[in-house]
Parts: sequence; structure tokens; C-alpha cells
Amino acid sequence: MNDLILRALRGEPTPRRPLWIMRQAGRYLPEYRALRTQHRFKDLAGNPQLAAEVTMLPLARFPLDAAIIFADLMSPIPALGLGVRFDPGPVLSTPVRSAGDVDGLREPVSDEIAPEVMVALRHVKRELNGRAALLGFAGSPWSLAAYLVQGQGAPGFPALRALVAQDAGLVAALLGKLTTLAVRYLGAQVAAGADAIQIFDTWAGLLPLAEWTRTVRPHLVRLLAETRTLGVPRILFVQDAPHLVEAYAALDAEAIAVDWREDLGALRTRLGTSRAIQGNLDPATLLAGPEATRRGAIALLGSLPALGHVVNLGHGILPETPIESVQAMIDVVHQEVPS
Ligand code: CP3
Repeated sequence: MNDLILRALRGEPTPRRPLWIMRQAGRYLPEYRALRTQHRFKDLAGNPQLAAEVTMLPLARFPLDAAIIFADLMSPIPALGLGVRFDPGPVLSTPVRSAGDVDGLREPVSDEIAPEVMVALRHVKRELNGRAALLGFAGSPWSLAAYLVQGQGAPGFPALRALVAQDAGLVAALLGKLTTLAVRYLGAQVAAGADAIQIFDTWAGLLPLAEWTRTVRPHLVRLLAETRTLGVPRILFVQDAPHLVEAYAALDAEAIAVDWREDLGALRTRLGTSRAIQGNLDPATLLAGPEATRRGAIALLGSLPALGHVVNLGHGILPETPIESVQAMIDVVHQEVPS
């Protein structure tokens, strides 16, 4: 059983640092692009056999230490009664902006939330047969709300920030519903075989600290309290929020994952050994080719001790990434001489 990641997430020593890559099952892989000529993204993610196949694609090519289930941040959203399409990012059929909109959201039980994801997880678990850990994931309530309120991705998500300014009670009601959704969805993924879970707070950084503390933090605290009992390590990914990293690191997750802007050595010094740290090579470094990737990866490993470090990129791998750069990153990690 390759449980390197699970051990690192628990802060235990491992013979080498574990590694996986955010968006590892994606468009930089020629075999993924080939599948996409036949199927729309939504159909790939919505079909458990195909989703399982896509989840396994990067592991057929690279000795990665985890598989992350091929789904989307928005996969649980149809269970609320909302329509979502992809163009290429998520687009809601109708944004959620009024009290009536929030009241109208369904409150699905676990079995009703993205059942195709649970079937896919069971397929992948069987196929992995212990070769790598299986990761489940969900969006944070705030990052889900960003798409629901704005209606689609938009720089700075102004409609979301306007709603916070206009009606804090409405935002709290929405975040409460999304927290319950995420707790049930993650619970179902663990029941279906996920060995660890990542909570993506991609749009964490939109609010100043004081507003984040009032508006977002209480829901994250509940999410983490209610997923602790699942008994699997939880990785909390915070993106583009340097002013909030300290506050996220103080929350009750086993690991904090940060984007490439953060200095992991300094973060390790501030955190002590209380948390695993995941990250954070700049995905753009890989675009510069294998030699630049090798230098970047060596510098990353040199910046913090191996104990409790899960190597990853600082955000999703870019579609233009050369395969050779991915291999170079993996080689550096596999060739590190333990100190
Ligand atoms: O990491 C993995 O390999 C698992 C699969 C995964 C996808 N989306 C597949 C996907 C994961 C973990 C996600 C999460 C996700 N989706 C996030 C959080 C992570 C992050 O990037 O910060 C967000 C913000 C989304 C929303 C989303 N979905 C966007 C903005 C887009 C379009 C742009 C893009 O990056 O591709 C999607 C579509 C999407 N989700 C694709 C994939 C592989 C591309 C679809 C395609 O093949 O055209």
C-alpha cells in the first residue's frame, strides 16, 4: 500500500516526500485531450466509468502518490436544484441573489448529492488497489457561493462582494446551506473510499481579514468540526489570499495547501510541526520546460524540511504544460537524498 501521502498528512516521517498535482487529470495530457474530442467535459465527469478512467490517466503515465477523483467544484450543485453548464468554467442557469433564491435551494440528503462521483470513487478505489491514495474533494462554502451568486467566474466576483455588503444575513443563510452540502458530500466520498479530502477555497482571498472573519470563518469552522469525525486527513487549500494564510493555518485541518506566492519555509517556521504543508511550485515554472522545472523543484525542496511536506503545484497544472516538465518535477522528488 502506498500510503506516503497519508503518513505525511499525519506528520509522520516518510522515505521520500509524497507528490500529486492539482488538476493532474486534465488537458496537458494528450490522452485526456483525445477523450475530450469525443465527450464534453460535463459528460466525462457525469459518467462514472469515464470519470474513473480519466482519474487513472495521470497514474498510468506518472508514479504519483495520489489519484484525485475527476469531478468539478460544481458537481454537487445540481443537487440544490440549480442548473450548471461549462463554458469552459461553470455557468449557473440562474444566479442565487435573493432571499427567495436561497430559500428555494433544496437540502439534499447524502445519497442525492452527485451520486456519479461515489460510483466513480468505488471504481477507482478498486483499480488503484493500494497503489496510491484516493483523494476526494469539495469546494469551500465561500468558493461555491462565489459561482452561485456571481453566476460564473469573474475577476474579483463583484456580485458576491456586493451581496456581502448588502445583506449579510442572506449570505450567512446561503453559506450555511452550502456548508451542510459540503459536509454531506465529503462524508459520502469518504464512505465511497476517499482516503483523504481536499477542501478547495480557490476564492478565499476576496475579503479583507475582518470581513472574512465575520462572514466566512464561522462556516469553515463548522465544516471542519463536522468533517473531523470522518477520520481522514483534510487538506485546506487557500488560493490568492496572502493576508489570510495565517488565519487559515489556525483552523482545524490536518494540512494547509497554499499557492505559489507563499514561502513554505517561512510558513513551516511559523506553524511549527503542527500541520502538514502542501504545495507549491508555480504552475508557470513548468511552462518554462524541464530544466527550469528541475531548478524550481530543487529550490522548493530546499526551502522546508521533508517532514510533513506534500509536494504539489501552487495551483492547477496549466493545459500548455509539457509532459517533460511534469516528469522533471517527479524526478527531483524521487531522487532527493533523505537528510
Ligand atoms: O485535480 C484534478 O485533476 C481533479 C479534477 C478537478 C476539476 N476541477 C476538473 C476540471 C478539480 C479538483 C476541479 C476543481 C475546480 N473547478 C476548482 C477548484 C480548484 C482550482 O482550480 O482552484 C475550480 C475553481 C473549478 C471551476 C472550473 N471548472 C473552472 C474555472 C473550469 C474551466 C477552466 C479550467 O481551469 O479548465 C472548470 C472546468 C474543468 N474542471 C476542467 C477540468 C479538467 C476543464 C474542462 C475541459 O476539459 O475543458
